[in-house]
Amino acid sequence: MKILRGLSEMSAWSCERSASGKTIALVPTMGCFHEGHLSLMRHARRFADYVVVTLFVNPLQFGPREDFARYPRDFDRDAALAAANGVDVVFAPDPADMYPPGYQTHITVDQLSQGLCGRNRPGHFSGVTTVVAKLFHIVRPNVAVFGSKDFQQLAVIRRMLEDLNWDIKIIAHPVVREADGLAMSSRNIYLSAAERSSALCLSRAIKHARQLVGQGLREATTILSELRDLIAADQAVQIEYVNVVDRFNLSDQAVVDQDSVLLLAVRIGHTRLIDNGRLIEGEVG
Ligand code: PAF
Repeated sequence: MKILRGLSEMSAWSCERSASGKTIALVPTMGCFHEGHLSLMRHARRFADYVVVTLFVNPLQFGPREDFARYPRDFDRDAALAAANGVDVVFAPDPADMYPPGYQTHITVDQLSQGLCGRNRPGHFSGVTTVVAKLFHIVRPNVAVFGSKDFQQLAVIRRMLEDLNWDIKIIAHPVVREADGLAMSSRNIYLSAAERSSALCLSRAIKHARQLVGQGLREATTILSELRDLIAADQAVQIEYVNVVDRFNLSDQAVVDQDSVLLLAVRIGHTRLIDNGRLIEGEVG
């Protein structure tokens, strides 16, 4: 496995592969790999000749009071895990090369970036779309694989590709969960044992919502009010949002249908966690 740090070095590697008719799948990450990331890497292999993983903790997508400085970083461990999971290249650029002095260009997907996570994290999605666009330009992939735990991120990135007529196929990978249902996240390591146990409210809420829908309930406000009571019963958990939305445009739905997704964000102590699930059996993303 190659480790590349230079932007032009990465582009040159990709151009050589494309010129010889080979395809590239990209898995963008911020590192601190867990089984969720590793499944994306293995999944990516099915769609292209080469798999490139980018490892870059993107300062643009963190707010001033967020965890950029303490975001977990362990390059050697991540590189070893990527190699063991069949990755061909880890691209780990230097922040100073990605955003040199004088940098001032940002990409914003207007509407989709505003609600849900965007409401409490102003500028976050603009940071994501800017770095993803840059990584797409540098790596030039045919396919990019994203986890669907970050459901809004996926919708925002898809919109950007469509709006910019960008011919990269986006693959959504299902949420990868621990045995007890907790969605895997690099931020889970911030949780104390008690907080981790409180965090199970998210997967329980999804399960409960599916049960209600399975019993024939379709009115979103009734379902949401039950879920909010269920989650708020644990005083360690602060709800940021619990919404039933249409999976394509993320608009709130009054009545659950085949395209409904339950999106949740909570704070437990200093940790912000998100999760989601379709309410009627279906494919992810
Ligand atoms: O999902 C993430 O880890 C990040 O938001 C991404 C897509 C790698 C951009 O920094």
